[in-house]
Amino acid sequence: MKIAFVGKGGSGKTTLSSLFIRYLAARRVSVTAVDADINQHLGAALGMDEAQAASLPPLGGRLPLIKDYLRGDNPRIGSAETMIKTTPPGAGSRLLRLDGANPVFDACARTVALGEGASARLLVTGPFTADDLGVACYHSKTGAVELFLNHLVDGRDEYVVVDMTAGSDSFASGMFTRFDMTFVVAEPTRKGVSVYRQYREYARDYGVALRVIGNKVQGPDDIAFLRAQVGDDLLVTLGHSDWVRALERGERRPFTGLEEGNQEALGALHRAADAAYERRDWERYTQQMVHFHLKNAASWGNERTGIDLASQVDPGFVLREVPSTSSSPSPQPA
Ligand SMILES: Nc1ncnc2c1ncn2[C@@H]1O[C@H](COP(=O)(O)OP(=O)(O)OP(=O)(O)O)[C@@H](O)[C@H]1O
Ligand SMILES: [Mg+2]
Repeated sequence: MKIAFVGKGGSGKTTLSSLFIRYLAARRVSVTAVDADINQHLGAALGMDEAQAASLPPLGGRLPLIKDYLRGDNPRIGSAETMIKTTPPGAGSRLLRLDGANPVFDACARTVALGEGASARLLVTGPFTADDLGVACYHSKTGAVELFLNHLVDGRDEYVVVDMTAGSDSFASGMFTRFDMTFVVAEPTRKGVSVYRQYREYARDYGVALRVIGNKVQGPDDIAFLRAQVGDDLLVTLGHSDWVRALERGERRPFTGLEEGNQEALGALHRAADAAYERRDWERYTQQMVHFHLKNAASWGNERTGIDLASQVDPGFVLREVPSTSSSPSPQPA
């Protein structure tokens, strides 16, 4: 299940992503966390210290390896250089599974211990540095996440939780259509719901499943405001959390200490995400990646690579779930 957290800057995307990740991990649900925001804070929100967070290998810095692995021996993709962020998989491509190892996870993923035996896998795009300004590198960084999602065959009880940037970047590419569920984090203010409005337009056109999570809600007036602004799209609200604040002070409290109301809200997120499984449509998912690939090819990709990137589309290919092959031979005793 691919879940995105989006919202206005400072609304609580990283906080709620990290709480949801902890909630799933505490229930021993397989969870892969992806920090795809310009400001990389997810590692810290999951309890990493600065040095640990800074030592995470950025996906954006491993693009050649990622592309080379994913293209496998797909005859339509001649080289990693001609693979852009929207290049869809086809026959011969290598797909990613969340159970077990693969070279992409080996190179880029790290395990974060979350206490009480819980853990999550963490991938980060890498920080947006001053060097990136104006040279579109940030797109290639989130592009790594798009490639990852477009080659991922995830099952119902395997969660990928992405802390997204709310920028228009995700609309230019197909990123916003890659999720089974998009949680829009909104504070009960007019500015707070602005990102929701933007998403709602796109959601309508592309069948994006969207729910609003009210955050930093202080009372019935806040809830009434959100209800009036977003109607039935409002899933649940969270109040100020002393547990979160304590974490920000550097204290390590067990996750079971998170306020009951906030625990219940996370349960509602889990149920909403799980229910989205029934609406999965791999054909539509594949068609949308082709749609955005052709769009990107025409607007900049063909020119950049010097080839007609439409030729990368395998018309007969549909990404879909296949039962995991747990039939790998057990090691033979010597
Ligand atoms: N429910 C909450 N209770 C207490 N503090 C919260 C809560 N939600 C968010 N915060 C605090 O508000 C601040 C902003 O939250 P956060 O960093 O999660 O927002 P963001 O949307 O990820 O921001 P950015 O756009 O900068 O990435 C943080 O200091 C966070 O700890
Ligand atoms: Mg953030």
